[in-house]
Amino acid sequence: MAKNWPSSLAYFLILAPFLLCCHSQEYDADRKIHVVYMGELPENGVSAASLHQTMLEDVLGSSAAAKESLVYSYGRSFNGFAAKLSPEEVESFSEMDQVVSVFPNTAFKLHTTRSWDFMGFTQNQTLRSSNESDVIIGVIDTGVWPESESFSDEGFPPPPVKWKGRCQNENNFTCNNKLIGARYYNAGDFYLSKDFHSPRDAQGHGTHTASTAAGREVAGASFYGLAEGIARGAVPNARIAIYKVCWTSTCYVSDLMAAFDDAIADGVDVLTISIGPGEPIPYFLDPIGIGAFHAMKKGILTANSAGNSGPYSRSVVNVAPWTLTVAASSIDRKFVTQIALGNGDIIIGNSINAFTLNETDFPLIYAGDAPNVSSRIRGDYAGACYSDYLDSNKAQGKIVLCDYLWDGSGPYVANSVGAIMPSDGYADYSFSYILPATRIDRESSAKIMDYIRSSNNPTATILTAEAMNDTSAPRVVSFSSRGPNLITPDILKPDLTAPGVNILAAWSVAAPPSFSLLDKRQVAYNIISGTSMSCPHAGGAAAYLKSIHPNWSPAAIKSALMTTAHVMDPRNNEDAEFAYGSGHINPAKAVDPGLVYDATEQDYINFLCKQGYNSSVLRLVTQDRSNCTTNTTGKAWDLNYPSFALSIQDGQPIIGYFPRTVTNVGSSNSTYHAIVQAPSSLNITVKPWTLSFSAVGEKKSFKVEVHGGVISQQAIISASIEWRDGVHVVRSPLAVYTVLSTGSPLGVTRNRPIKGLLDLDGPPVNGIL
Ligand SMILES: *[C@@H]1O[C@H](CO)[C@@H](O)[C@H](O)[C@H]1NC(C)=O
Ligand SMILES: *[C@@H]1O[C@H](CO)[C@@H](O)[C@H](O)[C@H]1NC(C)=O
Ligand SMILES: *[C@@H]1O[C@H](CO)[C@@H](O)[C@H](O)[C@H]1NC(C)=O
Ligand SMILES: *[C@@H]1O[C@H](CO)[C@@H](O)[C@H](O)[C@H]1NC(C)=O
Ligand SMILES: *[C@@H]1O[C@H](CO)[C@@H](O)[C@H](O)[C@H]1NC(C)=O
Ligand SMILES: *[C@@H]1O[C@H](CO)[C@@H](O)[C@H](O)[C@H]1NC(C)=O
Ligand SMILES: *[C@@H]1O[C@H](CO)[C@@H](O)[C@H](O)[C@H]1NC(C)=O
Ligand SMILES: *[C@@H]1O[C@H](CO)[C@@H](O)[C@H](O)[C@H]1NC(C)=O
Ligand SMILES: *[C@@H]1O[C@H](CO)[C@@H](O)[C@H](O)[C@H]1NC(C)=O
Ligand SMILES: *[C@@H]1O[C@H](CO)[C@@H](O)[C@H](O)[C@H]1NC(C)=O
Ligand SMILES: *[C@@H]1O[C@H](CO)[C@@H](O)[C@H](O)[C@H]1NC(C)=O
Repeated sequence: MAKNWPSSLAYFLILAPFLLCCHSQEYDADRKIHVVYMGELPENGVSAASLHQTMLEDVLGSSAAAKESLVYSYGRSFNGFAAKLSPEEVESFSEMDQVVSVFPNTAFKLHTTRSWDFMGFTQNQTLRSSNESDVIIGVIDTGVWPESESFSDEGFPPPPVKWKGRCQNENNFTCNNKLIGARYYNAGDFYLSKDFHSPRDAQGHGTHTASTAAGREVAGASFYGLAEGIARGAVPNARIAIYKVCWTSTCYVSDLMAAFDDAIADGVDVLTISIGPGEPIPYFLDPIGIGAFHAMKKGILTANSAGNSGPYSRSVVNVAPWTLTVAASSIDRKFVTQIALGNGDIIIGNSINAFTLNETDFPLIYAGDAPNVSSRIRGDYAGACYSDYLDSNKAQGKIVLCDYLWDGSGPYVANSVGAIMPSDGYADYSFSYILPATRIDRESSAKIMDYIRSSNNPTATILTAEAMNDTSAPRVVSFSSRGPNLITPDILKPDLTAPGVNILAAWSVAAPPSFSLLDKRQVAYNIISGTSMSCPHAGGAAAYLKSIHPNWSPAAIKSALMTTAHVMDPRNNEDAEFAYGSGHINPAKAVDPGLVYDATEQDYINFLCKQGYNSSVLRLVTQDRSNCTTNTTGKAWDLNYPSFALSIQDGQPIIGYFPRTVTNVGSSNSTYHAIVQAPSSLNITVKPWTLSFSAVGEKKSFKVEVHGGVISQQAIISASIEWRDGVHVVRSPLAVYTVLSTGSPLGVTRNRPIKGLLDLDGPPVNGIL
């Protein structure tokens, strides 16, 4: 079965039932878990489970083989199953008319509390609905630490009556009136990881995201005194439902599908998912795209992270237009850790160093001068400072200068006092380490090296980190994935940006606070960075809007968040809209957007028709009997989206037509005027320029026409369209850019095949969650 069979008896006992099964090694080696997605639930009361059993029997040849193969029957919110299939069986299912897509069970990766105050969403001045506790936010992640103060249910009434979920209270895990539901999914053998057999979080990530979205107010939260303040989520009174699908940072798509199937039926109002593939995936091969589509049909908005593969262009993932795709940006707090050298020089480094060395000087050495020779480590390798690369006789009690940035484990196991680690990479976010340590640039490391070589008795000390005001904030962080959108080039992604750098939130007591697994410290709050951290800010803000406007559709909530976003400064963000989308989230303003760009399921179906998904496939997903009637294949311009993207083939003139409809959600009588900001290379016309409303809920349509000369090699031309009524500013960015003449960026065809298999490797993990 598994490659790394654990020797521990405990693991053996837990897995013993699986070992009793009837099949040989070859059976399992041959058959791999796949998801077979079949769209909307079967009609006429047909049981999805018996349908799946029958289909498997037909293909696999026997009832016993079918039972043995089945991993999940999805049948609460959509139709499909996960099963262990051979390549031939995968082929058979792929060819069936009632199957939309078949994809392998690949792994996705996981991609304060100053952050809310920073965006003007203050604790005191925020308008709150007395019904906030009726809102349920679903968090699909690594589980949760239920005893965290952020999830205390003191003063909470019982769960809302609409709640249909449950709590898998196994192995000491219990829910309460704040944390009203928790489930876990483990289709493969991920029990082999050192993790809890319950929704309990062994990793920290899920506890962090859940508390960012909806943690209650906890005064005096900090990471060893750093970032001290009130920790709180966007909706401290809302309820939380946990769906654990990630085991030691790896999240399998069959589990993700199962979590969506449950969460939608359980009755969550908003989903936040800080998980993603390594590269964008066509909509119906993408478990998050599929799950979020069925969620949207039930009025549930899904917020998802843009990915941590920046600053590379075209790296944005989770791009379905019915989801909110969130980039990550800085807040006005950065952590500076200084090094004081024995010669009086001060070196500025960057880390979340909560340790104190009492400003005492310690001997300073270069790691390359302390190789662990008995481990056969040469001097030029020892500089890497990996675990066991150093000779503890030479490194203990000293501060070690390494050659590269790593997790500090090498100096730690050699009993060093501290580590100084240079890196060429971006330094716009900070890590914490297992020992006093800081990250510096190459120039500083050369300076320290000169000092070591020129002094008889080099010494240094590493100071505790200081929180400084980062006046350049908000700025999209280097690792945040950038557009343009590879799947649909004419939909702008990411949609917006939110705080994702150095965020303090609740943590799992079972998880190390730093990246080193040797780190045995236990903390209740931790500071980390990632689009994983920005996503629950947006998911929480969406839940906040839902608490005040319970009847708004997912598209209306998304539009309100996008059109009221704080306008970002392109001088600080060279990728402009491809970094920040509509701008920086501003929940306090989003409550009253004036107008919204609404969209229904039918609008998304029309969009998919134009993306080349044919009627027979769409009917499975939507149960809609109509045909795609459009003949403008490939154009996404018609979707009533709150932003505008126009991809132009290199060497062609600029031309685009965007029909849009806005719904009045402001004052009943209002007149809006369009204001266009554009460089002289673009002619943008709005027809009509004025929209008058006499009722709330009234809809008015307009058209945006974009013209310009021939363009070539244009990374991005930024413009904007605003509707103003004297009270509201309803702003949409408009981005024009060139793509290869073959069609879309990287030559990917717009009408990708729906069936077929795709390898979904996770992104390179550069230490960011
Ligand atoms: C918020 O309210 C608390 C208590 O009501 C008060 O002490 C604090 O000064 C207020 N903060 C702001 C920013 O108004
Ligand atoms: C709270 O919910 C009740 C029942 O749905 C509704 O009548 C009331 O208007 C809501 N209150 C607010 C402030 O939204
Ligand atoms: C459950 O919690 C109790 C009290 O904290 C502890 O003594 C016990 O060891 C825990 N059991 C498990 C299985 O974790
Ligand atoms: C710093 O001082 C405290 C209190 O005097 C002491 O407990 C601690 O061990 C000192 N730390 C170091 C690294 O010297
Ligand atoms: C050298 O490395 C080995 C592991 O390879 C380790 O056990 C040993 O303690 C190290 N020696 C010293 C002196 O640090
Ligand atoms: C940082 O500086 C800006 C501008 O001077 C100010 O508005 C903001 O409140 C400061 N932030 C902090 C945390 O002091
Ligand atoms: C729809 O697309 C599927 C998959 O590409 C194909 O098998 C099917 O024949 C198509 N149906 C029509 C009516 O074009
Ligand atoms: C859709 O197209 C199919 C075949 O192309 C046709 O049989 C059917 O009547 C059409 N449905 C509608 C609602 O037009
Ligand atoms: C198809 O395209 C033609 C030419 O662009 C247009 O006149 C016609 O109205 C379109 N038909 C539909 C159903 O969209
Ligand atoms: C809106 O305008 C109409 C016509 O000008 C007027 O009759 C109506 O009273 C106004 N409604 C409000 C709420 O101001
Ligand atoms: C914009 O329109 C004006 C008037 O029609 C025209 O003179 C100008 O050349 C156009 N500019 C571009 C960039 O197309």
